[in-house]
Amino acid sequence: MSATPVSTSASTSTRKKVTTLTYRHKKERGEIITMLTAYDYPTALAMDKAGIDSILVGDSLGMVVLGYENTLPVTMEEMLHHCRAVSRGAKTALLIGDMPFMSYQVSVEEATRNAGRFLQHGGMDAIKLEGGRERADAIRSIVSAGIPVMGHLGLTPQSVNQLGGFRAQGKTAVAAKRLIEDALILEGAGCFSIVLEAVPERLAELIAKKISIPTIGIGAGVGCDGQVLVTHDLLGLFERFTPKFVKKYANFHDEMQKAFSDFIEDVESKRFPAQEHIVEMDDKEWEALLKEVNA
Ligand code: KIV
Repeated sequence: MSATPVSTSASTSTRKKVTTLTYRHKKERGEIITMLTAYDYPTALAMDKAGIDSILVGDSLGMVVLGYENTLPVTMEEMLHHCRAVSRGAKTALLIGDMPFMSYQVSVEEATRNAGRFLQHGGMDAIKLEGGRERADAIRSIVSAGIPVMGHLGLTPQSVNQLGGFRAQGKTAVAAKRLIEDALILEGAGCFSIVLEAVPERLAELIAKKISIPTIGIGAGVGCDGQVLVTHDLLGLFERFTPKFVKKYANFHDEMQKAFSDFIEDVESKRFPAQEHIVEMDDKEWEALLKEVNA
């Protein structure tokens, strides 16, 4: 970090804070909702300035930032730590904290208490949790505590072991019917929105038509009311694999690696630091110092 910043850039946004009401109005008007994941302050700041509607501090954190094999090891403490960083960067977007594995499955009381921590200690506006009808009681309780809930159906990564891998869902008539039922149950339980992950496009479109709350798609086609991507996929920062449904807008992993190689080369060849990177000392002061140390 340099002592003298080269430039300062404060957010000049005059956008109004996005709320769950904005979500509802956007669906009513047929306007598309945008969402991206973020896990840190600078990314959240850039997204907010770009005009994103909502930021999800996803438990994808575990894979794309913390290097876990899947999302299962992520803890409440890890989530809250990153939620706070995001909330310091984004002032306009609706902020949604993702409840990690085993923070809402054991009991309704624990689910409600942990959901509350995202608002009290994480700076979030809402929470997201995975699952269908089996989560209805927890959702009802969290909503009754005044906490907006986003549901998540289809490919639910916390159930990767039950699903037999990261695979598309709702591809048979029976599975699709169950997904439609689950979406209606989540709407009835009080969710303000539902993420639909890796489900056939026409099924996602049918669900979006059947429920009055917005659906946010990831690998679910254009028929949803909004779209979300994991930012590290979109930026090409996560190098392990890229799901089929991701559009890569940059290749930051390669960019980073090149910048680091260039730095190493510059340092080793003494091209860095150069004249413009150093601190000067007045000749008079220097002479005085030499007199002192050589005396
Ligand atoms: O954790 C996450 O990033 C998510 C998105 C894939 C929706 O749940």
